[in-house]
Amino acid sequence: MDPAARYRALTNSSELPWLWVDGRITPADAPALRVDQGLLRGDGCFESGLVHDGTVRALDRHLDRLLTSVVALGLVAPAHRDALQTDLTSGLHSLLAATPGLAAREAIVRMTVTAQSRLIQLLPLTQRQLDRRQGLHLWTIPEPRGESLVHRHKTLGWTANAVWSRLHPAGHDPVFEGLWLDPGGQVLEGTTSSIFIVERQGPRTTVLTPALTRAILAGTSRARVIGSLRDHGLDVVETDLPFARLVQASEVFATSATLPVAPILTVDGRPLRGQPSSDGAEVYKLAERLVG
Ligand SMILES: Cc1ncc(COP(=O)(O)O)c(C=O)c1O
Repeated sequence: MDPAARYRALTNSSELPWLWVDGRITPADAPALRVDQGLLRGDGCFESGLVHDGTVRALDRHLDRLLTSVVALGLVAPAHRDALQTDLTSGLHSLLAATPGLAAREAIVRMTVTAQSRLIQLLPLTQRQLDRRQGLHLWTIPEPRGESLVHRHKTLGWTANAVWSRLHPAGHDPVFEGLWLDPGGQVLEGTTSSIFIVERQGPRTTVLTPALTRAILAGTSRARVIGSLRDHGLDVVETDLPFARLVQASEVFATSATLPVAPILTVDGRPLRGQPSSDGAEVYKLAERLVG
């Protein structure tokens, strides 16, 4: 596929017909953004959520993460947080109301905030995004990632995530996910997802995921999966997770708002080494049923 087509496939550039910019609904193909230093420099934050049955799934979690980030990164003064929340919520509702047929289809909502602009888009799910729900091949990104405040937020400085979602270490594969490790070989997260592993010892099943003490994004689906698996009685541990433990796991799965739960089929080209459960009951399917 030529690079431009590949870029379009990865970035969903064919948009649903309307977007909301700073209080106005406008056709998505009309010039709408003024020159914005935040957008030009990648100095802003965004959220991606799933529109399902006409509403945004886990909207409160997405709004809370976005507002927390823009205040934490100094883009918006704490005193303006509530006004921004009101603005985005009403913008979102008017955009959903202005878009016909949403109740019958899934879509992605993307909210972007810089110091100067607020933008809400509705985007179709690409075929690649739909295919990813069936399973992902995980590849370790060849450069480890160190600690940085920005990794805890969904910033517009998204180049590394975009590049490692595009450059496949073994050449090609539409359903791969880059895996970030830290310099000490601890699992951090996928380029667009949070990572869980399942360990089985006799009758005991433990689900593990990297703790938020690491510089990773506090995934909205990560929180929903942890909460619902625990409510279901499973042992879920947020901890340090060495890569060696991931490859030995019985099961690995990734979560994100758009997946929302997808099994990892191979790691660096090899199947997982752990024992699958004897009764074939997979934790990712349970998680999917609980949050999907
Ligand atoms: C780096 C990274 N980690 C984790 C996630 C999962 O976050 P969420 O579950 O809120 O979609 C994403 C989603 O885009 C991401 O980009």
